[in-house]
Amino acid sequence: MDENLAKARALLAAASRIAVLTGAGISAESGIPTFRDAMSAAGPPQGARPPGGERREATIGGDHVAGPPQGAGPPGGERREATIGGGHTAGLWAQFRPEDLATPEAFAANPKVVWEWYAWRRERVAKAAPNAGHTALANLERRAAHFALITQNVDGLHRRAGSRNVIELHGNIMIDRCFAEGRVLAAADELPGTPPRCARCGALVRPGVVWFGEMLPPKALEDAFAAAQGCDVFLSIGTSTVVEPAASLPFAALDAGASVIEVNPTRTPLSARATIVLAGAAGEVLPRLLG
Ligand code: APR
Repeated sequence: MDENLAKARALLAAASRIAVLTGAGISAESGIPTFRDAMSAAGPPQGARPPGGERREATIGGDHVAGPPQGAGPPGGERREATIGGGHTAGLWAQFRPEDLATPEAFAANPKVVWEWYAWRRERVAKAAPNAGHTALANLERRAAHFALITQNVDGLHRRAGSRNVIELHGNIMIDRCFAEGRVLAAADELPGTPPRCARCGALVRPGVVWFGEMLPPKALEDAFAAAQGCDVFLSIGTSTVVEPAASLPFAALDAGASVIEVNPTRTPLSARATIVLAGAAGEVLPRLLG
């Protein structure tokens, strides 16, 4: 690790344009469960079982639980998942079926169940605090000449840590939107209910996240690929690199000639092509790498 850390620090010291991609792993040490990882030894905290999501063993090696399998590749705007070796055996997606909770169809079919599941996740996000990994990236941004932080996370912890140039590819869980008009709603724009309703058109209110099968915000996607294809060093932190189009970003950076540094305790589809792999937890590795 030390040798790789020294090499990675040298690459970053020589870089003027830095782009970073983060996934659920960077928030794991803040107590927010990832989607595809075995729950921490402690298991889900007391009372963590949300309403509606019955326990289900994911199929192993069978059909994929979310979306049709697709190869990693072109940055189409629709959110989808590339399979690696069958079904999920860990993380949130081992406990709950994405197709029951994280698609517009699921919301239309069971708005109360889906709303309560997001309310449960919002509660956990509200109680969480940024960790040393988030803080190290905020400090790096202050030092770097050109810096972009692309996140798949909807928890807002990067901004709470002081990061500014944050590209939220999958939206933000603390924001409400009108299910029909798509516009952001403040509490005053909503009629009470579970879920609430839009005071202007009467449609359901939905969480401001991008669900499977939905298009990512075009400007965010464009900015993310521009940052990846225009950087000298690309950091890929705490992501399993299986959900497209975000999963294509580190490969786009590699293809454009950038050095790619991966920070993850386990291997991903990127590990074999990454310039340097730092196998460890973001909250421990990033302060050492960026401190
Ligand atoms: N530090 C760094 N990486 C970690 C840590 C940690 N402390 N703990 C776990 N990881 C790694 C895991 O090894 C795994 O590779 O983080 C990754 C988390 O992967 P996922 O749970 O698949 O999360 P992510 O890649 O962000 O998922 C992408 O899929 O379900 C959707 O909406 C969801 O935005 C998310 C998208």
